Amino acid sequence: HKLLLLNGPNLNRLGKREPEIYGNTTLTDLEDRLRTLSKDEGFELECFQSNHEGEIIDRIHDAEDNGLKGIILNPGAFTHYSYAIRDAISAVSLPVIEIHISNVHQREAFRHHSVTAGVTIGQIVGFGLFGYELAIRALVHYLRGEDT
Ligand code: DQA
Repeated sequence: HKLLLLNGPNLNRLGKREPEIYGNTTLTDLEDRLRTLSKDEGFELECFQSNHEGEIIDRIHDAEDNGLKGIILNPGAFTHYSYAIRDAISAVSLPVIEIHISNVHQREAFRHHSVTAGVTIGQIVGFGLFGYELAIRALVHYLRGEDT
C-alpha cells in the first residue's frame, strides 16, 4: 500500500525560502517525518519534488499505473494556472488531496484561486507544514472509507 507525496516548484527550497511564510524545516526533514507517519498508518510513502510541470504530470500518471492508492499534492504556483496538472488529476482515478503551507487567501489575489482543487477530494490550506500531516491523515481516512 503506497501513497505519493508530490511537491511542485520551489518546494525543494523549504527551510531556506521565505522562512517567515514557509518555516525553517527542510523538504528532506518533512519527507522523513511524513514517511514515519504514513508507516504508522500502514502505508509506504513515496516522495517526489519537481520544478517542472511535465514531470509532475508524469508522476501523477505513473502513480495510477504503478498501483499507488492516493496522492498528497502541493502544486506550488502551478495551483493557480496549470490546466495541464488539473487534467492529469482528472485523467487518473486516484484520490488527490491538495495542500498549501501558507494561507493563500491572506496573500496576493492571484493565489486565491486554485485551478486544481476542483478535481481533488479536498484541500488543506494555511496550517504550515502540519498541513501535510493533516493531509495524510485525511487521505488514509478516505481510503479506509470511514464516514466520521
Ligand atoms: C504554496 C502557495 C503557492 O501560492 C506558492 O506559489 C507556493 C507554495 C503553499 O504551499 O503555500 O509555491 O503552494
